[in-house]
Amino acid sequence: AEKRVALVKGDGVGPEVIDGALSVLEAAGADLELVPVELGYGRWKRTGAAMADEDLELIKTCHCVLFGAITTPPDPEYRSVLLALRKGLDLYANIRPFSAPGLDFVIVRENTEGMYSGVEKLDEEEATTLRVITSRGSLRIAERACAIASKRGRLTIVHKSNVLKSDTLFLRICRETARRWDLPFDDMLVDAAGYNLVMNPKRFDVIVTTNLFGDILSDVAAGVVGGLGLCPSANLGDRYALFEPIHGSAPDIAGRGIANPIGAIRSAAMMLEWFGEAEKARMIEEAVGWAVASGIATPDLGGCSSTEEVTEAVAKRISV
Ligand code: NAI
Ligand code: MG
Repeated sequence: AEKRVALVKGDGVGPEVIDGALSVLEAAGADLELVPVELGYGRWKRTGAAMADEDLELIKTCHCVLFGAITTPPDPEYRSVLLALRKGLDLYANIRPFSAPGLDFVIVRENTEGMYSGVEKLDEEEATTLRVITSRGSLRIAERACAIASKRGRLTIVHKSNVLKSDTLFLRICRETARRWDLPFDDMLVDAAGYNLVMNPKRFDVIVTTNLFGDILSDVAAGVVGGLGLCPSANLGDRYALFEPIHGSAPDIAGRGIANPIGAIRSAAMMLEWFGEAEKARMIEEAVGWAVASGIATPDLGGCSSTEEVTEAVAKRISV
């Protein structure tokens, strides 16, 4: 088919928010072939494996993945499914747009190396995690960030090169790339970036940073724009892509029909944009903005609507 999408609903609120996203995709008239793939804790409990090699092969027959959230199984041997997908599909760029009234910025996080390279050792006396930064990894994330910044305006390189030698390489390559793109740019130490995200978020446009820093700063940013439940993300490689809300499986509220579907709905809109359907993506974003502004909101935003009510309101707004 034209647009073949692996559908991973996952655990906890994953299926609830993905069902919301699917209703909204349908309302927007998206023509997709959906390929369900069961991954995660539920699958692990049934079969002893959260994901198998065949799953990755099946996913590779699709163009991209729409992903809910999965629960980390209570097993010390467990390897993260998301890390395996990011590695297996080489999804090196994690794009996280954050918007709220008067606020609009993007965090571009390197997704395959840095502190999450997986080079680790754990002994009784000592534990080490190796932070690997390569010029190839830095260049490809810098290129992605510059491509986004060239359409928006400005790049801020976030690092800790005053302490970490590995970040002097990352900073140098990002600077060279921004100069090559002829972009306005600056750089900032990660601790200052955390402070400024809270105190002065308007100063940011596009942030590019390494894996762990991007992980932490994007949760800070989610808090700044109103909550985890609102925020979408895209994991992009040169061939494949995976779209997911940035929140986890939220076991504390799962099964109660009150999970905020907006992060998942917006992730679906990012997927349509990636497929070249910018107009449909824009319609969904408009409808979501309208619902939030109208106070049609789940309890995490202080509202009293259910997942279904928010989904229906957004879907109806698109169909009008
Ligand atoms: P979490 O994001 O699941 O939940 C944090 C808090 O935010 C909770 O109070 C939860 O109720 C709330 N929340 C999250 N999503 C929401 C939504 N859509 N609507 C309303 N409220 C929402 O993070 P937590 O609790 O640290 O992790 C729970 C499980 O999820 C763990 O097993 C963790 O490993 C997994 N996880 C999975 C991720 C993924 O699949 N991408 C990402 C982060 C965590
Ligand atoms: Mg995280």
